[in-house]
Amino acid sequence: MDLALVQHGTALRVDGRVFRLKELLEAEELRDGALRLQSAHLVGPAFVRLRFADGREVAASLPGRDASPDDGRVDLLIHNAGQVLTFTGMGVGLVSRAQVLCQGRRVLAVLPAGPLPVGYHLSESATRVDAAGGVVTPGLVDPHTHLVFAGERSLEFAMKAEGKSYLELHQAGGGIHATVRATRSATFDELQRRCCRNLSELLDWGVTTCEAKSGYALEVEGELRLLEVLRAANNCHPVEIVPTLLGAHALPAEHAHARDRYVEEIAAQMIPRAAEQGLARYCDAYCEAGAFSPEEVEPIFVAARAAGLGLRLHAEQFSDRGGAALGARLGATTIDHLEHVGEAGVAAMAAAGSIAVLLPGAALTCRCPWPRAELFRRAQVPMALGTDLNPGSSMTAALPLQMFLACTQVGMTCDEAWRAVTCVAADSVGRPDLGRIGPGSPADLIVFDVPDYRHVPYHYGRNHAQVVIKAGRVVRQRASLLD
Ligand code: NIG
Ligand code: FE
Repeated sequence: MDLALVQHGTALRVDGRVFRLKELLEAEELRDGALRLQSAHLVGPAFVRLRFADGREVAASLPGRDASPDDGRVDLLIHNAGQVLTFTGMGVGLVSRAQVLCQGRRVLAVLPAGPLPVGYHLSESATRVDAAGGVVTPGLVDPHTHLVFAGERSLEFAMKAEGKSYLELHQAGGGIHATVRATRSATFDELQRRCCRNLSELLDWGVTTCEAKSGYALEVEGELRLLEVLRAANNCHPVEIVPTLLGAHALPAEHAHARDRYVEEIAAQMIPRAAEQGLARYCDAYCEAGAFSPEEVEPIFVAARAAGLGLRLHAEQFSDRGGAALGARLGATTIDHLEHVGEAGVAAMAAAGSIAVLLPGAALTCRCPWPRAELFRRAQVPMALGTDLNPGSSMTAALPLQMFLACTQVGMTCDEAWRAVTCVAADSVGRPDLGRIGPGSPADLIVFDVPDYRHVPYHYGRNHAQVVIKAGRVVRQRASLLD
C-alpha cells in the first residue's frame, strides 16, 4: 500500500485515492480548522494513524476500505487499568478506567473498561493481563546510557566521598581511562554478558528501548568491537538498543601528545566504518575540559553528518564551553547534561530544534549543580531524562529515580518528567513511534502497581513496574497478574 501526505498536509493519498482530513476526523477534532499533518502511518488495510504538526495524534478509519475479518483479533488484553497514559497529545493523555487491546506486536486500541465491543474478539491463545486498577504506560525509553564496559569504579566513588572531584580523578588517569583499560582487555563474550545484565536491569525498571554508546575503547577496532557487542546484545535481548558511536569520549593515553591525530582517526576511520557497517545511528562526543573542545568536536560532527549519522553531544557538564551552541549549529538531535548551559546555548538549541537530555543522576554523583528545567521550558526546548548508566558518573539503571530527582531538584512537573521518559525520549532517539499508546503503536507497555501515575516519581527508590511488555510479549512479571 502506498501512502503520501498531499495538499500541504491537509489530505492523504492512499493507493491513488485522496482522503481529505474532514473525511477522516470527528467534528470535534476539526474545530480549529488549521490542522496540518506531519506524518501518517497505515495500520492494517483500513486504519491510519495521523500525527499533526502541533503534536496531537489520532487514529482514523479510511472510508470505503474494508477491514479484514481479523482486524479485531486481540492477542493481548490489558484490562482493569485505573489509568492509561497515551501521550498522543500535548500532556500525558490520561484515560481513566480503560483497557488496552493489542494484536501481534502492535496496539489496536485503548477503550473504556467493559466487555469488548462488537468487532473485537480474543484470539484462542490470547494473553490477558489484569492491571488490578494500576497504571498502564508506554514502555520507558532511556535516551542516554553507556551500557558496554568492563570493571567497576567503587574505589573512585569512595574517593569522591572523601573529597576528590570527578575531573581530578579523570585527569589523573582514572575515571573513563580506568574503564577503558578494563574494557580493552575484556573478551567479546564477557562484554556482551555484562551489557545484557545492564539491559536486564533497565528492563526491570520498565525500560523497553534505550540509546547506548560505545566509548570505552578509544581506538578504531576497539570502538567498532563495542558497537558489535551492542548489536549482538540487541539481537538476543528484549530491550531494543539505539546505538551511538562515542569515539570522542576521552583522549586515549597513547595520543596524549597528538590530539589532532586522534580526532582525525575518529573522523576519517571510525565514523565512516561504523556508518558503513550499520553499527551506529548516532555519533556523540564529550565536549569538556579534559576531553574535547568545540573546535575538536566540529570536524567529528561534520564527518558524522556526511556519513548519515545523527548527532548527540555531552556538553556543559562541568563548565560552559559553548558546546551546546556548537552542537545546535551543526544540527544535533540532542545536547545532554547541560548543568552549566547559559541562555545563549539554550537559545541556540531552541532555534535548532535540539532536545535537552537531562541526567540528574550524573549531576548528583559528580556534585554538579542541577540542570534547570525552567531554562528549557521558557525557550520551549523539549526535555528528556536519562539514567546515563555508566560505571563512573551514574551507576544506576533506575530511570524512575531520575523522574523523582527531576521533580524535586531540576524543577520539572510530574507531567514533564513522564513525557521526558516516554514520548520526548522516543523522539530524541529517532523513534517517534515509541513512547505513546495509540492504534498502531508498538505494543511496548508497562503496568505499574500504583494508584495514580504521579505515584511513580513520588514513591522513589522502589520499583513499581509489575508487568513489562515488549512488542506484544510479556517479558517481565513481578506479581501474578496474569489471569
Ligand atoms: O555521561 N561525561 C562523560 N561520560 C559519562 C561518564 C563516563 C564515565 O565516567 O565512565 C557521562 O557522565
Ligand atoms: Fe554520558
